[in-house]
Amino acid sequence: MVPAGTTDGAGRTGESPAAVIVLAAGQGTRMKSAVPKVLHAVGGRTMLGHAVAAARELEPEHVAVVVRHEREQVAAATLELDPRALVVDQDEIPGTGRAVQCALDALDAKAHAGRATQLVHDDAVDDTIHDGDSHPLGDGLDGAVVVLAGDIPLLDGATLAQLLAAHHADGNAVTILTTEVADATGYGRIVREEGTGDVLAIVEHKDATPGQREIREINSSVYVFDAAVLRRGLGGLGTDNAQGEVYLTDVVASARAEGGAVRALLSDDPTLVEGVNDRLALATLGAELNRRIVTEWMRAGVTVVDPATTWIDVDVELAPDVTLLPGTQLHGATVVATGATIGPDTTLTDVEVGAGATVVRTHGSLSVIGEKASVGPFAYLRPGTELGRKGKIGTFVETKNAQIGEGSKVPHLSYVGDATIGEHSNIGAASVTVNYDGHAKHRTVIGSHARTGADNMFVAPVTVGDGAYTAAGSVIVKDVPAGSLGVARGQQRNVEGWVARRWPGTPAADAATRAQAPSGEAGQLGAQAQRQLADHNALTGTIPVVPAPDSTTGSTADGSATENEGSTQR
Ligand code: UD1
Ligand code: CA
Repeated sequence: MVPAGTTDGAGRTGESPAAVIVLAAGQGTRMKSAVPKVLHAVGGRTMLGHAVAAARELEPEHVAVVVRHEREQVAAATLELDPRALVVDQDEIPGTGRAVQCALDALDAKAHAGRATQLVHDDAVDDTIHDGDSHPLGDGLDGAVVVLAGDIPLLDGATLAQLLAAHHADGNAVTILTTEVADATGYGRIVREEGTGDVLAIVEHKDATPGQREIREINSSVYVFDAAVLRRGLGGLGTDNAQGEVYLTDVVASARAEGGAVRALLSDDPTLVEGVNDRLALATLGAELNRRIVTEWMRAGVTVVDPATTWIDVDVELAPDVTLLPGTQLHGATVVATGATIGPDTTLTDVEVGAGATVVRTHGSLSVIGEKASVGPFAYLRPGTELGRKGKIGTFVETKNAQIGEGSKVPHLSYVGDATIGEHSNIGAASVTVNYDGHAKHRTVIGSHARTGADNMFVAPVTVGDGAYTAAGSVIVKDVPAGSLGVARGQQRNVEGWVARRWPGTPAADAATRAQAPSGEAGQLGAQAQRQLADHNALTGTIPVVPAPDSTTGSTADGSATENEGSTQR
């Protein structure tokens, strides 16, 4: 007995189900994995994640997830996906029917608790709790209950909504999502009534007659049940079958026996309803999901040069006119703004890429790449990297927990970790922020318009001020004030004639002798070599030892400043 007006306490619409039950208690033996089957992922989301996301799209009053195998892991994953989800433990009795029974018991208990609270609130307990044999607080959950296996990664909310709509429209007791497959081995077969097409029974492969095994229409393990029909049906189930399990599929027969309509919605898209039993299916369905995601992005205006080698997770967001080059993988919550080009051979996880940026042969995670910035080739962006607008993280550069301001560049062979670099600064090649003293991490702060020399070690904590320079090869252990040149290196000493004395008769000694000869053949050869070098330098340009003070490019000039006395050496 339910007091009027309390059944719809959550305010759900007529089409929303009372509950979605996700079955996730099975072991998934054929995966041969220490990881529970439902926690294997495709498209960057676990199969359980796909199931819960699809369930949530129906806006049900409750989502219940049935767990048993690796209980703690699956329960924790469930609550992480949806803190409001009800985690239900299945007992030792095996089978999909038992799993649903455990869930329904828990949902009924919840419904009772909800009603008891409501009744106390309404001060109406005395009028309603005495009602013969039935539960004093009513039968429990009522309305539509959606049941789905937790191992159907491509099943989406739209398909579930279609199934639910068909259930309501036809006034069914049970509605089953089915599909036709070429090889139905292992699946439950749908036995339809001639004429009406209603479902007479679902017969498991192991229990099927040779004739029934010819049937290609299979049970997907996705259903809508009327809660009362389900409750009564589960109550009468046994384990008299080839597997000695409580079969959920047997509810079909009991529903029909009490006069309910059991119908099937036949999906023409088998991959959408296909379950994963082994790693082969995981890879096949994963590739198919990816193919669909990539296709959708191309339809939305993204250029994908090679769809076959481009992998995009379900939660990634791309703007129109993004270009993805071959071998690109975009994972997690990666977002790419318009005009950006990613790849080739780039993997980004949870990375935000600004408009017009280029990211070439890069591996990055939890980072932000500014508008029109340039990254790679061969860059490694670790969590906490923030590259400003028009900034550059170049070749063989690793960054971590580093803010690199607008227009600032770290072009070559460097490590920038736990660092803040201001705007329009240039970090010389082969530099390292020495952030770890063996106990704790420390920060390097480099100001704006700074030019640091090649091969610098910044021993943190240390600060290089705005507009400061540092000399090439310096180990910077003390702060460099704004506008200063920091120099920290030994003076060079040349020991003349050392090679000839130490290694006489070697090619090196001979070359030195020829170079030092005032004239003759050896001398000419040396002069010729010098001339060639000069020609070469004239053609290609040389790297100035100190960049011009007004230069902000610095991408080929390494900013290898030195304490020169005002002359630029060539
Ligand atoms: C089930 C169906 C079959 C259908 C097939 C589709 C039954 C009796 N059979 O068979 O008709 O064609 O799925 O893939 O339902 N689970 C539990 N507790 C258990 C057993 C299973 O929660 O005790 C869960 C599993 O974790 C899985 C789902 O139920 O998510 C299906 O279980 P599985 O063992 O794969 O069922 P099948 O034998 O494939
Ligand atoms: Ca299965």
